[in-house]
Amino acid sequence: MQRYLMDFSTKDMPVKQSECLVIGSGVAGLMAAWTAAKAGRKVLLVVRDTLWDSNTNKAQGGIAASFGADDEPELHVQDTLTAGAGLSDEHITRIVTTEGPQDIRALIAHGAQFDRNADGTLALGREGCHSRNRIVHAKGDATGAEVARALNAIVAREVDVEVLEHCYVVDLLTSKGICYGATAMHEGEKLYLRAGAVILANGGCGRLYAKTTNPEGAVGSGIAMAYRAGAEVMDMEFVQFHPTALAIKGCPNFLISEAVRGAGAVLRNAAGVRFMPSYHPMAELAPRDVVARCIFKEMQAADAGQVYLDAREIGQAAAKFPMIAQTCLDYGIDIEQEMIPVAPAAHYMMGGVKTDEWGRTNILGLYVCGETACTGLQGANRLASNSLLEGLVFGRRAAVHADGYLSVPADGEREEWIGESLAEAPSGTAAVTAGLQALMGQFLGIRRDAVGIHEAQKSIGALVQLYEGTFAETPELLDLRARLAVSSLIAGAALRRQESRGAHYRTDFPEKKEIWRQHFTDCRTNEMDQTGEMTDDVRIGQTVAGMA
Ligand code: SIN
Repeated sequence: MQRYLMDFSTKDMPVKQSECLVIGSGVAGLMAAWTAAKAGRKVLLVVRDTLWDSNTNKAQGGIAASFGADDEPELHVQDTLTAGAGLSDEHITRIVTTEGPQDIRALIAHGAQFDRNADGTLALGREGCHSRNRIVHAKGDATGAEVARALNAIVAREVDVEVLEHCYVVDLLTSKGICYGATAMHEGEKLYLRAGAVILANGGCGRLYAKTTNPEGAVGSGIAMAYRAGAEVMDMEFVQFHPTALAIKGCPNFLISEAVRGAGAVLRNAAGVRFMPSYHPMAELAPRDVVARCIFKEMQAADAGQVYLDAREIGQAAAKFPMIAQTCLDYGIDIEQEMIPVAPAAHYMMGGVKTDEWGRTNILGLYVCGETACTGLQGANRLASNSLLEGLVFGRRAAVHADGYLSVPADGEREEWIGESLAEAPSGTAAVTAGLQALMGQFLGIRRDAVGIHEAQKSIGALVQLYEGTFAETPELLDLRARLAVSSLIAGAALRRQESRGAHYRTDFPEKKEIWRQHFTDCRTNEMDQTGEMTDDVRIGQTVAGMA
């Protein structure tokens, strides 16, 4: 497998030096930048578009935390484990649910404003599979924007963080299992981002699918670059489909928050019949994977492209969910008078780069957090509103550990990296991307089987081969290479898991089986050639010792 995606020589490139390189400006990246800078580290924060282009900024529902008088972290642990379908790590879950409330308090102390009750206590909403009201939210349905606003303000005003926007990180630089920085494209120029530690937090991969709630940059580039560098990835078969994205022909991808169901909205099929109570005792608030599959079934039965979310009875729906109400109105739906057409859409990657409780990977100096990471919290199906929470906790934890790591003096050895000449890539990325999205939706969506996955693997494999050994320097090509790498990992993992668990549903193996209650990891340095030798590829990336 190709190690580096572009020709480069770190000797001849402009260098940007930092102690801590943070990649990504979602909640995890911003929290990491804040924490590292507070500890006195020289931090460089790079983002492929602007600071505001993140999944965090779009998040509606909120942040789950046990602030209620009837609640406690242990109940939050149990709900997370239930949603995770046997694969959430209890230790990690306890860390996140017990430390998360402190991180939210810290955010509030530094200016974040969340919705409150008349008595001043935090107003707590309800979402699927939560046994208590514990969703902290802002302006009804604009929680992520408030988290992004507050963290961006902190990073801009309270600490010294250098920010580089429109900087597309291409590859992580590693030598002998240690990460020393990254290569990037910035305003058409190659850049060497030399760093003592790298914290990678550039989001998930919802854009592998045509129907998604994710912003454009969510193509899995973080997972792909970490994998190329030799990082282990875990649980890649678990892609979460949100049950209710707006489904009006011609309208852009837009989420209708689970909080709307939490407030009492119900799902109706094409005949106007409420269907969830007949499938699950928690009805519309059943685990997200269950609701998504039931909707899919109802859509298939009616040969329809949508079902309907009925928010007419919840009272003051537009005041409670102003952004959703306005967006629906823009597309001709008054949510207090009419039902909202909805359908499932790719929403969140539970898998990702495997990390420990400090965001550490198997590569020294490389930390991963947020949706790019697989900490084990989310298991086979993420509990609603646990992602901003995980980003807060693990963004902070990764930076705390990186600070300690940076305190240990380096051994003085410096490396120079040289990327070998690569061939020109085939043209026509848009058509390839559209074809890939169609394959992913058809064969690696809500329902999967071996025949379909094989079909997808064959096509993805051919595309991977087509681009192998070619360079990628434009955002289009870089995105496509990320899409191919991550699609291929998802297909491999989905084929391997011969059971149905959480978000991974195999029609040919519809049962959940105890023997499969385990995680699987993939790592390119495990790839063997025919003689049984490691195929880790020094053909393209070489290291030269001795650079000052
Ligand atoms: C939502 O508001 O429904 C999304 C929240 C989440 O994905 O956790």
